Parts: sequence; C-alpha cells; structure tokens
Amino acid sequence: MLPLLLLLLATARGQDPMRYTPTLSSLSLGGLTTTSTFVLDQPRCVFPDTLGDAVIWLVVAVPQGVYSFNSTLEPGSPGRAYQLFPDSTSAYMTLNTTLLNYPCPKTDGEITVLRVGSETSCQRDNTRPTCNGPLPGPGPYRVKFVAWNDSGPVAETSWSERITLKTAAPWNNIPTSDRGHSAAMIALTSILTILFATLLAGLVAMLVCWGSDACGGSSTFSKPEAVTVQRYNTHHVYDQAPARL
Ligand SMILES: *[C@@H]1O[C@H](CO)[C@@H](O)[C@H](O)[C@H]1NC(C)=O
Ligand SMILES: *[C@@H]1O[C@H](CO)[C@@H](O)[C@H](O)[C@H]1NC(C)=O
Repeated sequence: MLPLLLLLLATARGQDPMRYTPTLSSLSLGGLTTTSTFVLDQPRCVFPDTLGDAVIWLVVAVPQGVYSFNSTLEPGSPGRAYQLFPDSTSAYMTLNTTLLNYPCPKTDGEITVLRVGSETSCQRDNTRPTCNGPLPGPGPYRVKFVAWNDSGPVAETSWSERITLKTAAPWNNIPTSDRGHSAAMIALTSILTILFATLLAGLVAMLVCWGSDACGGSSTFSKPEAVTVQRYNTHHVYDQAPARL
C-alpha cells in the first residue's frame, strides 16, 4: 500500500521517471553531436527524492537492444561492458552518479548536460566496463536513465528517440577523388591550351603572310594572280585608252 501511495504521490508531483524521455540538450554549446559523442540533458527533477542516494546510470543501446533490454543485468558486468558494445552486447551502462548530483530544482545558469562518449582513456581498458568511451559509429542509439540501489534497479526513464551521430567524411576518399578530378582537369586544360596556342600561332602566321610578301609559300599562290589582274587591268586600260582618244 505504501509503495503505491508513494508512486501516486510521485506521479502527482510529475516525478514518475517513466514519463521522462532523455533528450539531446537544446543548449547551443556547439557540437551537440559529433562523430562519436552527443550531449544529453541531465535527468534533473526526474527521479523522486525518495530514492535517496540511489546511483543513476545511463544506458546506451542499439535500437534492437531496446526490446530485449534486461534492467536487472548489473552495471559493470560483461553484458553491460562498453568495450563489448555493440558486437557482443546490445547495451552498455555508464556515467554513474548518485541522485544527489542531480539536485532539483537546478540553479539558474547552471550547465546541466552530460556528454556521452567523452572518455577516450578507458576505451580499450577491459577493467573499466563502465567507461564513457566514444560511440563506435554513427548509430542510431537509444538511451535511458536507470536508478540502482544496493538491491537492484529501482526506477527507470523511458527510452529516448533514436540518436544519430554525424558521419565521418571518409577523408582518404575525398582527396583521392579530388586528386583524380584535378588531374583530369589539368590534362584537359593543358590539351585545350596547346590546341588554342597552336590555332593562335597559325592565325598569326596567316595574318603576317597576308600582310607582307615575306611568305614564300603564300606568294606563289597570291602574286601571279595579282600580277595577272594588274596586267589585265593595265592591258585593258591601255587597250581602251587609245580607242577613247
Ligand atoms: C561508477 O561505477 C564504477 C564501477 O561500479 C565505480 O568504480 C565508480 O566509482 C562509480 N563512479 C561514481 C561517480 O559513482
Ligand atoms: C532500494 O530501493 C527500494 C525502493 O525504493 C527500497 O525498497 C529498498 O529498501 C532499497 N534498498 C536499499 C539497499 O537501499
């Protein structure tokens, strides 16, 4: 009867953890998601004070791990180890802190966020299964907070929506295709430049030839004609001149 009453009381105060869905922080700190981290709002005013000094854990799961999630599997056990995620286990537990560290209400101006994936030192350290290590890929992931006391899990929130991280640009692909691209561009530009230069040279040569008689090849082509025309005109003029006179 008492737990039910407490539950009703907690619900009435808006502190039924199941009603809370973890969300990405709306604070614009910059880089709320990176390729291996994301920033959540701290679960403030989510768990009832009646849980005392219970420890709040963050569960990070792949979406298919949500349906098979067993909340009684102990944090730090192999089935919840960060280092085995996501290949050998579908969820890990990290960022443990006592409820006392999430005081309610939060004080104004306090930054109340959690960066998931920020700890690189324990990434491959199997003795630290609760490592808050970098997320192993873009996801998507779903998260929830679970409160534990010495007897086991005592409260939990709902699962978040799917959280998808930024995709790393495959950096050795871009320069390669860029290099291939620019190589082709350079080749094409060179060919076009050479073609254009050749055309221009030919044009200049032709102009020079037409402008002067210095061109041997051209003169044999144009001179006799000019001479013929000149002779014809001369002849014609001479022919007609006497007739007119
Ligand atoms: C979190 O849990 C680990 C393993 O159970 C423990 O060693 C560590 O002291 C805990 N950290 C906090 C802040 O409670
Ligand atoms: C754990 O929490 C539950 C529910 O609040 C409570 O009934 C139980 O006594 C607690 N156990 C310990 C060891 O604090």
